[in-house]
Amino acid sequence: MNKISTVNGLDKKFLESLFDSAKNIKNSWPNLEQIGKGKTICLLFWEPSTRTKLSFEHAAKSLGFKVLDFSPSGSSIEKGETFEDTIKTLLALKVDGFIIRHPEDKISLKIEKLLPEEAFFINAGDGSYAHPSQALLDVYTMREECKDFSELKVAAIGDTKHCRIIGSQVTLLNRLGCTDIQFYGPKELLDDNLSPSFSEITDGCMEDRDILYVIRVKNERLKDNENIDMEAFKSIYQINESFIKKTKFSGSVMHPGPINVDLEITDDIATSEKALISTQVENGLYIRAALLSLIS
Ligand code: CP
Repeated sequence: MNKISTVNGLDKKFLESLFDSAKNIKNSWPNLEQIGKGKTICLLFWEPSTRTKLSFEHAAKSLGFKVLDFSPSGSSIEKGETFEDTIKTLLALKVDGFIIRHPEDKISLKIEKLLPEEAFFINAGDGSYAHPSQALLDVYTMREECKDFSELKVAAIGDTKHCRIIGSQVTLLNRLGCTDIQFYGPKELLDDNLSPSFSEITDGCMEDRDILYVIRVKNERLKDNENIDMEAFKSIYQINESFIKKTKFSGSVMHPGPINVDLEITDDIATSEKALISTQVENGLYIRAALLSLIS
């Protein structure tokens, strides 16, 4: 497995092995086997990132890889060089692995075709399509919380429609035995492909949920005709003390970040004992190191 655009091709055996590898890396950190010695990884980010980019960089360096940081701004892209020629140039510079984030939906599928068979590639987020390493680290974090995925009850709330993580996360959870996943949010932000979905937040509706996965409103991906009244959104869907009380939610709160504090979640909930948000970021380091260890 040396190209990961989506989680679709990752079976249960692969996932168990990847999660075991991440667990070993977590236990050994920072003393890792230098499997990256003599190899070069390039990070190409056409969109902003803190967690994904820095955790891939930190993981790669900790495994002994050389890391090149390509930034479109200041590169020959500004002189009209195409995406394809940029990749060809990096291949000529002996780059072995590519970690790419791009705003275009499904560009990862084109990149897979563009790269030679031996080149390693991980999609670090393409438009609203996929963000496999985030979905993997989220499910790894849920796995640390639950003994048995078939017993796990998940609720996702917010902008599932423009979120590039949630579809992959559902695929992974289903594959591992978790099928009880509910989706909450205003009608305009609910993904029609995900069910059951609810726009109403009723008393006690989350009493049996173990995980509440909070999703930011992706303002950068809203179309001109998708106007969201943020004050109305906050009054119903913001995760705050009164939301927790009304829904009787008593499980763990997750959020992929970045958080818009006091918009989709209040600071007191995001920093409470219920929140696994920092654990998710930390686990991102181990999952990405485990993914980079797949390079041959
Ligand atoms: N969750 C996530 O992808 O965060 P960054 O945009 O900071 O990488």
